[in-house]
Amino acid sequence: MELREVMGRRRSIRFLNPNKPVEPEKIQMMFEASRIASHWGNVQSLRGIAVFRDAAPKEVVDSVTSPIAGYQIRLAPVSIVWFLETAAVDGQADRLRELCKVGALGYGEGKEKAIEEQLLPIFKNILESTKAPGLGEVDCGQGIAQATLMAFDLGLGTCCLGTPHAEQIRQNLGMPESCRILLIQTVGYPAESPEAGGQRPRLPFEELFHINGYGHAFPRSQEVVDQLTRDEMFQAPAPLPWREAELEYLQKALDLKGNGLL
Ligand SMILES: Cc1cc2nc3c(=O)[nH]c(=O)nc-3n(C[C@H](O)[C@H](O)[C@H](O)COP(=O)(O)O)c2cc1C
Repeated sequence: MELREVMGRRRSIRFLNPNKPVEPEKIQMMFEASRIASHWGNVQSLRGIAVFRDAAPKEVVDSVTSPIAGYQIRLAPVSIVWFLETAAVDGQADRLRELCKVGALGYGEGKEKAIEEQLLPIFKNILESTKAPGLGEVDCGQGIAQATLMAFDLGLGTCCLGTPHAEQIRQNLGMPESCRILLIQTVGYPAESPEAGGQRPRLPFEELFHINGYGHAFPRSQEVVDQLTRDEMFQAPAPLPWREAELEYLQKALDLKGNGLL
């Protein structure tokens, strides 16, 4: 499948088959994909803990929760707790030296000296501030996105879930204070159809993207849109006509109570 088609088909899968276990190798593949994602200064602050619902100690499974659509975590064979290790920033100078050594950074004679005398002092000054939420989160997001694409490629469904219980989860999982929980990603084989009701709504393109200054909408060429539609990056918008019936079916099949929001 072409990358464009993949982007069009991949969407959050909330309804997972609770009975079909996920192979640990597939979770490893997700982690492998996230590990090679880009990160500023090659700091690599993204970390993950995979919690296998049927194998982890009950107190570990019970500690991974979110009050928003928490049924998704209860159903998921695996939940990945993605987090950012702020202490990774402390290795920043070494990461830059490594980059220089392997030919990814700097050129010409004396590049090592330039790294030490020019680049590292700049980074040293901003070291503590780069541990605050910001660029690191963006880079972790890239890693999580790569893991998500890998999961899709392996036939898995995933859904990212925020949680206000992050501090509690951090303590329950025995993570050091330097760790900042980002989100929980449920992983499993989809119980719903791959379309999952169709392409979810998005804000208008022109509202989001600008050209040569704020407030000048980036011109959206219909030709490009048509091309991407032919490439199947754009799929039929939600809701597909049979979605409500599918939701009703899923609710019964998975024995879900309530309205699926909490
Ligand atoms: C970082 C992140 C956090 C999210 N947190 C939640 C959440 O707490 N609860 C929830 O039901 N969905 C959550 N979602 C899923 C979004 O609601 C979903 O991406 C959105 O509805 C669009 O659907 P799509 O991903 O299929 O395009 C989250 C998604 C992301 C990327």
